[in-house]
Amino acid sequence: MTDSLPVRVFADRTDACRALATEVAALVRTINDSGRPAVLGLATGKTPLPFYAELIRLHCAGELSFARVLTFNLDEYLGLPGDHPESYRAFMQRELFSHVDIPAANVHIPDGMIGSAGLEAHCKAYEEAIRAAGGIDFQLLGIGRTGHIGFNEPGSPRDSRTRMVELDPVTRQDAAPSFGGLEQVPTHAISMGCGTILEARKIALLAWGQAKAAIVREALTGPITDRVSASFLQEHGDATFYLDREAGSLL
Ligand code: GLP
Repeated sequence: MTDSLPVRVFADRTDACRALATEVAALVRTINDSGRPAVLGLATGKTPLPFYAELIRLHCAGELSFARVLTFNLDEYLGLPGDHPESYRAFMQRELFSHVDIPAANVHIPDGMIGSAGLEAHCKAYEEAIRAAGGIDFQLLGIGRTGHIGFNEPGSPRDSRTRMVELDPVTRQDAAPSFGGLEQVPTHAISMGCGTILEARKIALLAWGQAKAAIVREALTGPITDRVSASFLQEHGDATFYLDREAGSLL
């Protein structure tokens, strides 16, 4: 256990996202000014929505360009085509990419329709593309009720890499309403591993609401264990939790 992981608790998620988006926009500008593209690791779920809204606002205000930004998403459901509304590719297009000036070639999301024959090579190529981009400058994370980051369910090793994962029943249950029923929720996904995520130079984990308060406390103050993959962040030198009051209420 460590108490060194910085936590910022805000009045609400809008305030938290405004603060983080301002920081990320400044980071992108600094990196672009140094002469190279900025590499962002992106997340899906309800949690990052106000953050993406804020990035779009900054873009529309002329304060943030994605022209020299490369993105790598954490994960994708297996078996969902990119045009399925619940695929993470469709989510990213809808919630961020279609509103900003990012070149399509700069976007990387695992391919949920890759067949089993090509899966291993696809995961290796994803890791290789991150390396070729120079590594991830900033990684955005949410947290699932099982304590997962990406889809690194309990039991995901500290040094795991991009691979196929089986979704925890709790995670599938949480996704069931948006899929219109549990039986529609995919059973597997492709996810960056804990090791992939922990190599990002800077990380922010966002969490809102009472429902996340217990797992946030566990991740921050509990043992560092593969039962709660977010607990590995305690060992990262530049990871920060951005919480609203409710999510921080048990700290
Ligand atoms: C999914 C995603 C995670 C996300 C989690 C929480 O499992 N793969 O990246 O953090 O859901 O979702 P929400 O933000 O909707 O609570």
